[in-house]
Amino acid sequence: MEINRNTIIKDLIETNPETLAVFKKYNLVIAGGVRGPNEPIAFFAKAHEVNYDTLVKELNEAIEKGGGEHIEIPKFEEDKIYEKFIKTAIVLTLSVGVTFGAITLSYIAFKLNFNSVYYALIQAHGHAQIYGWVGLCIMGFALYIIPRVKNTELRHRSLANIIYGFAIIGISIRTVVQPIPYSSIRFLVPISAIFEALAICLFAFVILRTILSSKEKTGVFDKYFKAGIIWFLIATFMNLCMVFHLYRHAIYEIPRNYFSPYVHLYLFGFVLMFIFAINIRTVYAFLDIKPVREKVINLVFLILNISIPIYYITHMLADKYVVAFRFSQFIVFPIGFAFFAFIYGLRIFERSTKELQDIVMDRSYAKTIRTAYLWLIVSAVILLVMPFLGHGTEVQKRFHGSLNHAITVGFITMMIIGYASKMIPTFKGINMHSIKISNLTFILLNFGCFLRVFSQILVGTSGKPVFYAVVGSSGWFELAALSLFGYNLWKTMNTTQETKPSTTTATKKLTEVTKDTKVFDVVDQYPETLQIFLDFGFSQMSSPVMRNTMGRVASIDMATKMHNVDLDKFLKALNDKIAAKS
Ligand code: HEM
Repeated sequence: MEINRNTIIKDLIETNPETLAVFKKYNLVIAGGVRGPNEPIAFFAKAHEVNYDTLVKELNEAIEKGGGEHIEIPKFEEDKIYEKFIKTAIVLTLSVGVTFGAITLSYIAFKLNFNSVYYALIQAHGHAQIYGWVGLCIMGFALYIIPRVKNTELRHRSLANIIYGFAIIGISIRTVVQPIPYSSIRFLVPISAIFEALAICLFAFVILRTILSSKEKTGVFDKYFKAGIIWFLIATFMNLCMVFHLYRHAIYEIPRNYFSPYVHLYLFGFVLMFIFAINIRTVYAFLDIKPVREKVINLVFLILNISIPIYYITHMLADKYVVAFRFSQFIVFPIGFAFFAFIYGLRIFERSTKELQDIVMDRSYAKTIRTAYLWLIVSAVILLVMPFLGHGTEVQKRFHGSLNHAITVGFITMMIIGYASKMIPTFKGINMHSIKISNLTFILLNFGCFLRVFSQILVGTSGKPVFYAVVGSSGWFELAALSLFGYNLWKTMNTTQETKPSTTTATKKLTEVTKDTKVFDVVDQYPETLQIFLDFGFSQMSSPVMRNTMGRVASIDMATKMHNVDLDKFLKALNDKIAAKS
């Protein structure tokens, strides 16, 4: 099989198993189902910082050396360590998360009053979302991705089920029991926090042991992972203290001046550090842009990790001490600056290097990752405006709710969706179940989030009922978006390379391409012919959507007529390629 930049790794391994050793040397193959990643070689080389030409040279040497000798492909066990975490996160967010949130918003809109809801219920929703949706997603991804980016094995893998079990028990008890005014079962609330703390301590132990066992050179992203783990542990300890406070004083709501800044410590400390770490390590390849500006990324690391504890303490004490209040107003500026600086350091909105422009692959996740950073900009602007709105005023509270939503849905949830839609098909060596549903999810979630964030601000500044109505409708768009995403990802997770209906069996195996052959069948059965389509000017073939749609209806004859390509010359090129393979 002749190797070119669009050669799919799993196809090359299938036809030339001797290439496996080369991929293993570059740690390229441990991801991607049982036969390797469904990724073009050029992309994987950039994502794993391997020189493409060196890689291809070694692959060809392996093929020449290994030619003719039958080498058995070892049966890879598909690593599904992330799956139960992600699936449970989807169930939690679609139940006590977004569905509860949407109902609550409609009730608030009906009452024209944001303070009309029993706040312990809001806190239960908030806890289920930050630990259940975001926490479980990050834990699942980290257990899969960190060993791979650190080129090592996951340490104490057997603890993953215990981590999962303890986390689920803790989150479920807390979400259900905290709002229930029934003293005889209150002892369960501190027990829930103990289960969560045990799960998170074990997770931290496994991840830190894995990172520290790696012989890979330390990257600029490493310290973000480590800081994220430390903030996760600190937030979990705080959660334990707040819950024991609840229990000892027989109250149902955690005092707001504790709860709200703690939510931001959890989001800025643990969640953003992890997301930033993954982005630093992967975005330059995913978006085909230049590597990060390391000096800026290091500066942001310092500013955020110094500012976060000050932010938490000053906001917690702002009601009591004027100094703390003044500091709480000041500290948002370095944090806001850090968000903008990180975007500059990551080059997220910069032009593509075009290094991978000839590569055929699904890039629908790219807009989701970029849009998430647009929402981080919105969050930073709201954060910087808040000190000017009068401490504890209704308008400031509305802005605070909008800030929360811009960060938790606009940035974090969008990033989870963007990365899950890219990474999980890669993990499995298949395509996302439906790109169409991915695009619909993108539109609905952005629309719902836009309505919520900006109409809640307008409720704060004008109080007009019309804006309450908009707020009340926003949650249902977000519920539709996350339901579609949940379905799409669940279907993808339940598909394996084996269960994926291979078209080759469905349609007759092609031995010769004629003018009546469907474009789709040629590329599906002989992926290496894709380059020929591109060389003859069929550029739209670079889009998987076009191949899966137009390609299924267009015959070679139709395609050559549409693009004014010499039919005989094109047929000869295709058949020569196929003959070379057989
Ligand atoms: C996507 C649909 C969502 C809807 C409809 C929704 C709805 C709500 C509502 C109505 C409130 C109370 C009003 C307010 O404080 O603004 C609230 C608060 C909260 N939500 Fe959500 N939410 C959603 C997603 C999320 C996500 C994804 C997270 C976290 C990852 C989250 C975490 C929280 C937290 C922590 C609070 C309490 C904030 C505080 O009191 O300081 N929510 N949500």
